[in-house]
Amino acid sequence: MNLDILPVDNPKPGIGDEANLVFGKQFTDRMFVMEYDAGRGWHSARIQPYAPFTLDPAAMVLHYAQEIFEGLKAFRREDGSVVLFRPADNVARFNRSARRMCMPEVDEEFFLDAIRQLVRLEERWVPRSHGTSLYIRPTMIASEPMLGVRPADSYLCYVILSPVGAYYKGGIAPVKIWISDFYVRAAHGGTGEVKTGGNYAASLYAAREAAERGYDQVLWLDAKHKRYVEEVGSMNMCFVFDGKLVTSPLHGTILDGITRRSILTLAREMGLEVEERALTVDEIFEGVESGRLTEAFGTGTAVVVSPVGQFTYQGKTVRLGDGETPGEITRKLYDTLTGIQYGRLPDPHGWVVAV
Ligand SMILES: Cc1ncc(COP(=O)(O)O)c(C=O)c1O
Repeated sequence: MNLDILPVDNPKPGIGDEANLVFGKQFTDRMFVMEYDAGRGWHSARIQPYAPFTLDPAAMVLHYAQEIFEGLKAFRREDGSVVLFRPADNVARFNRSARRMCMPEVDEEFFLDAIRQLVRLEERWVPRSHGTSLYIRPTMIASEPMLGVRPADSYLCYVILSPVGAYYKGGIAPVKIWISDFYVRAAHGGTGEVKTGGNYAASLYAAREAAERGYDQVLWLDAKHKRYVEEVGSMNMCFVFDGKLVTSPLHGTILDGITRRSILTLAREMGLEVEERALTVDEIFEGVESGRLTEAFGTGTAVVVSPVGQFTYQGKTVRLGDGETPGEITRKLYDTLTGIQYGRLPDPHGWVVAV
């Protein structure tokens, strides 16, 4: 398939003040778009000016949420070059999501190349300040106008770009987590491991309740026993328990995070034992009180690594350390991963890809 590059007649002024970038609010001049029709396959791939779509009010995505997305970042390194972090992993996960949601897969090589070309064309939008990046959002939606629950016959696949600021303006700061004993995010056999909008829509109610009580994020427990730690908002969870790194196994209800994957590799290389096992909410509380649980953090593309300062469950709160300072292992993993991303450290695994 050809990739057409269409001209941009009215470029926007640019990023503006990098210190005031808000996550996901500002978009660049161009986007990648391709279309799918049953019997014809993917076609009309192009990089075109960023613009709204015209969608039929009956478009199936608007009614039955047949939708998937991804999230990855382009980083500006100190030598001025621009790189992506493990982009092939995101494209592979996009296709896994597509399969589960009965959507057409994309050609991974073509799609990755289209993302690289788009970022290259939009290079001026990759910010330069410490901790900033260009967030990349591949998306696929069911565009066929039809009221009826079945997989659609037509789809739009697109990629948009958004310059984003450093998540932590004053250095990494611990978050307050509320553990829900009622709401659940995903059950076995459901779509928990898929990056599809419905999972996030279903999480809003509990997240609002947590925010109203002064918490930053909700930690989800498993749907069946309501005992085992699953994940947080848009992060996988890691715990330093008995000096080992403990994280929930991938068994279909949580996202197979690319940051999680990277952190587990780095932790092993730092000499830490890694255990992928179900940790209970009781272990969190008893572990903090007995000193066996010393650090906890979330991992995800947006935050990289987010230390947890406190957990609250059924009215009881435990603090990790002083609740204000990230633990030593958390900080080391954050520094190592961001060091690789921004080119301050070597990249022995070939995670970083030039655009
Ligand atoms: C539900 C959920 N879990 C975990 C993650 C972390 O995944 P990754 O490290 O690939 O960004 C994300 C973010 O993409 C997410 O949405």
